[in-house]
Amino acid sequence: MAEPKENLQMEKIVSLCKRRGFVFQSSEIYGGLNGFWDYGPLGAELKRNVKELWWNAMTRQRDDVAGLEATIIMSPKIWEASGHVATFADLMRECPLTKKRVRADQVEPQSGTAYHFEGATDFDEYDNFAKKFPAQNQDQVFDELLRATGNELNFTETVIKLVKQHGSLRTDEIPAMAKTSEERFSVLLSAGKPPESAQKTAKEFYKQRGLKNPNLLGERAQKVENSTDFHPESGALLNEARPFNLMLQTYVGPIQSEENIAYLRPETAQAIFAQFKNVLETSRQKVPFGIAQVGKAFRNEVTPRNFTFRSREFEQMELEFFIKPDEVIEAIHGSVFTVQGSGLENSEPGTPNPEPQPNWGWQAWHHYWVEERVRFYEGIGLSRETLGFHHQTPAELAHYARACTDILFKFPFSKKDAAGNVIGDELEGIAARSDFDLSQHQRFSGKPMGVFDEELRAAWAKLPKEKQDALWKRYYDNRKNYLTKSAKPDETPEQISQQATEDANGLAKGQYIPHVIEPSAGVDRLILALIANAYTETTKTDDKGKSETIYVMKFHPRVAPIKVGVLPLLKNKPELVKKAIEVRDLLRPWMNVYYDDGGSIGKRYARQDEAGTPFCVTIDFDTLGEKPELLDSVTLRYRDDGRQERLKISELRDWLLARIR
Ligand code: GAP
Repeated sequence: MAEPKENLQMEKIVSLCKRRGFVFQSSEIYGGLNGFWDYGPLGAELKRNVKELWWNAMTRQRDDVAGLEATIIMSPKIWEASGHVATFADLMRECPLTKKRVRADQVEPQSGTAYHFEGATDFDEYDNFAKKFPAQNQDQVFDELLRATGNELNFTETVIKLVKQHGSLRTDEIPAMAKTSEERFSVLLSAGKPPESAQKTAKEFYKQRGLKNPNLLGERAQKVENSTDFHPESGALLNEARPFNLMLQTYVGPIQSEENIAYLRPETAQAIFAQFKNVLETSRQKVPFGIAQVGKAFRNEVTPRNFTFRSREFEQMELEFFIKPDEVIEAIHGSVFTVQGSGLENSEPGTPNPEPQPNWGWQAWHHYWVEERVRFYEGIGLSRETLGFHHQTPAELAHYARACTDILFKFPFSKKDAAGNVIGDELEGIAARSDFDLSQHQRFSGKPMGVFDEELRAAWAKLPKEKQDALWKRYYDNRKNYLTKSAKPDETPEQISQQATEDANGLAKGQYIPHVIEPSAGVDRLILALIANAYTETTKTDDKGKSETIYVMKFHPRVAPIKVGVLPLLKNKPELVKKAIEVRDLLRPWMNVYYDDGGSIGKRYARQDEAGTPFCVTIDFDTLGEKPELLDSVTLRYRDDGRQERLKISELRDWLLARIR
């Protein structure tokens, strides 16, 4: 299964990934499995580093986030509550000829001549029957059968008459009325292709419908401009778009029945909502706080593409950060601190994100998390120039979401805008999801998902009546809005109003359902972004005109799969090898070290450059004290510019740690 050749840069990246062991096609020896990828030795290290850096930044470096590691298969009720069973679908169109499916929104516009056919009829049996008559009668026999076609009675009478006329015939030689297909078929031919090619494709189509020798009916040609209705490979007119649920199904238990259906999770987030209460109670956290999870997710993508960018099995790094609703903030703090616009594009790189404040509303938290995530990307080598932002429009937002900012990376396959600027493709989405998720799980499970907040209860009691009424009304309206939109068919408006009233009355008792801000990132997309960002090639031509291309993967030292290469200058000098092994063992407990004594030192440097190793240390004769002042020092070489300097072995570990952490 070859990756479509999107562009030259991507081809080179895919080739290096395979050559150097970053990414392999899954099940390659059996021809591969579309949408599934394996990470080789370097890719596995890169991925581990990325996940660990995310986990550290999101949980261990903070007081307000706790971790979770949930199962991939969970109760199918979770996916009913989340809406995935009903609505997690892409609109998909099928090619009636090849049965291949394409996403309706991903068909490239095409132009040419469309040939339409009304149907086809199969005259093979008439031909064979007519051939049993003397040559001069054959056309007449064929015509008689043709005239009788369509009318059962006429057809039978005609056949009886003709059989009598012939004399004797075996039953299997008597023709059945010609099969007809009234299914319409259209095919698009690009300029310059002969109409016969359309007829050939159409015959193929009708043969698939059981007609042995289809005679095409009602052919008509029509010019077509920029149409997205035809299959890009076969040219056949696509079937109507139909929703296609992306969840992969399995069965739990030995019986493959409807009630045992379960799903491989399409996102890690839902486990966090389902375990919200358990984590809250065991972690001693209080809102605002978050729950983070890293793990596999599965989506039966209609068209996996762009290497690992859209896969069917992938990993996510998700944080659900629970916050107080704005009405609660206002009740406690008198007002809500909000941020107008995203302000992102004006943020100064390198400046710290402001410390979260107790009076922040959802907007400020949303802004904060977008900034926090951008800083994370900057910290692992993706500069702001390589990123882009997409603020979802109200039409794009889910009905319960208040805002969603996508952080984009400018991949080699990313499209350009009208001005020629690369737009970028989604790396991560940061959504303000209101209280939708917890509310859904409360309704579907019957278990309360709200929290009790003593500060709110105390503050509420001190509020003037008008303020209480105003906040009550706003909270009531929001709850009613949610309850109305997600009402079950048997719920009446009165029941909904009553539930919204109960929810709003909860404020006075210090109760509310937390809202959530969700930064949700894809590990595999980030790995691809880091690889694309690190990839450099230079072609050098020597005096004899021989040219060589040199590849250097300029990973940030924090993510680099190998942190340091340890190289004895010569393999056949036991003192050098012994010292080099000592250095390797000194560093090994702290970082991923690669010991290499094979080939010339230049070749070994080049190997490490291709693997993206930021530093190499060479153990040479000076290390052994050839120049006494250099005893126990090594040559340290920088990957990106080949610069070299001398460093004491005793300082090496700390020097490296300062740069790779
Ligand atoms: N819980 C929210 C959620 O799952 P999403 O935008 O569908 O939101 C979040 O996915 C992230 O997961 C995306 O930004 C992307 O990085 C990654 N992702 C989603 N589908 C993917 C796929 N088919 N292959 C690789 N990564 C994917």
